[in-house]
Amino acid sequence: MQQQPTKGSSRDQFVSKVGFIFAAAGSAIGLGNIWRFPYLAGKNGGGAFVLFYLICVIVLGFGLMLAEFVIGRHTQLSSVDAFKKLDKRFTFVGGMGVLAAFIIMGYYPVVGGWSVAYIFKTILGQLSTDAAIMGDVFGSLVTGILSPIFWTAIYMLANIVIVAKGISSGIEKASKVMIPTLLGLLAILVIRSLTLPGSIEGLKYLFLPDFSKITGEVMMAALGQAFFSLSLGMGCMITYSSYLSKKENLVQNATIVPVLDTAIALLAGVVIIPATVSFGFDLGQGPGLVFVTVPAIFATMGPVLGRVFGIIFFLLLTLAALTSSLSLLEVVVSYLIDNKNWERKKAVGFSSVILFLICIAASLSMGVWSDFHLLGMNIFDFLDWLANNILLPLGGMFITLFVGWFWGKDKVKAEVTNGGEINFSLFNVWIFLCRWVIPIIIGLVLLSGIGII
Ligand code: PHE
Repeated sequence: MQQQPTKGSSRDQFVSKVGFIFAAAGSAIGLGNIWRFPYLAGKNGGGAFVLFYLICVIVLGFGLMLAEFVIGRHTQLSSVDAFKKLDKRFTFVGGMGVLAAFIIMGYYPVVGGWSVAYIFKTILGQLSTDAAIMGDVFGSLVTGILSPIFWTAIYMLANIVIVAKGISSGIEKASKVMIPTLLGLLAILVIRSLTLPGSIEGLKYLFLPDFSKITGEVMMAALGQAFFSLSLGMGCMITYSSYLSKKENLVQNATIVPVLDTAIALLAGVVIIPATVSFGFDLGQGPGLVFVTVPAIFATMGPVLGRVFGIIFFLLLTLAALTSSLSLLEVVVSYLIDNKNWERKKAVGFSSVILFLICIAASLSMGVWSDFHLLGMNIFDFLDWLANNILLPLGGMFITLFVGWFWGKDKVKAEVTNGGEINFSLFNVWIFLCRWVIPIIIGLVLLSGIGII
């Protein structure tokens, strides 16, 4: 049975071409680039991690993103229904994606909340180049009980309001302003970071691979990060492109979005890693890295200038996070709308309440519940690991297998070329990637990441 996508009305669409690119890039660019990429690079040996990350983005990023765009635009349905319509046997892939979105939204708003909190900390002038002081500021925030939950709630509320309004009015507008501003501010920060004494060592750490550091776990972390950062493997890009008009050039979009996303991640790395080395902070400290190093960079700019830039930075980080979590919430919400025929407002309300409860658990697991472990990780790290290192790569593997083997080459070609209007000379290469290269790489990395090979 064909389901009505949006109850009672025709399906919403992005109103302009740049609107879609900004929304898709807005989904991709987020905490993944600015918070997660630098700290994973710091923790996993720098250059070796970055090199493998770039390989993943180039080989998998483009191929999988295009596969998701093709499925979404062809069916004009969100991921579960898209697969249900195309091939019932693959419906579980959509389901897995909704689950992954749900899990990520169970901790992402916690980090979003930290970012909001830092806007205020910067206003209050809590900046210092002293590692011990910045570490304390961060530590007391994340290990607290009510304060991080409060900031998470504020962040969550912003998501609820925008997603409840629907696609083009909320998501599109927010992204258009944010991405250019973010790029500008990062450029200023790059200059500041690279002019700090000793920062060149940090650059070397980031870009000169030490191959002895490449282990199964490092590769798994890099692969998971590629999926997370590009919003792939979970049907998010399927859902977004389901709102895309039939005239758009999918190949072009699938190239621009990963390039932008990677540029921003690398810029964030170039800001954060050299500065961390220059201040003598710990590169392997994990999730606190951006919240400790970046305020320290601002502290070097003096009280007024540092504060002004600091406020802009955390505001932008919050906005970047917001445009990503909107897309995560949208995956869950559009599943409920398209599948259960719920009203948008009801879907948003219901899912946010449950997600907020999971966020509370994730937040407390950084403090009072830190002794509670799942597979040796606290709740926060476990959710992050399960979604990004397991579910997203598995999802990506099935999506590419479906497009490569099961959908039918002619149908795929018709959709990707807009019925022959667009010339896509690498079509066969891309199909080969979907059939063999992407699934095999993912399979091997997963097996070595969990220690089987
Ligand atoms: N890509 C987003 C980020 O980098 C996170 C995200 C993952 C969003 C998966 C949607 C889907 O922050």
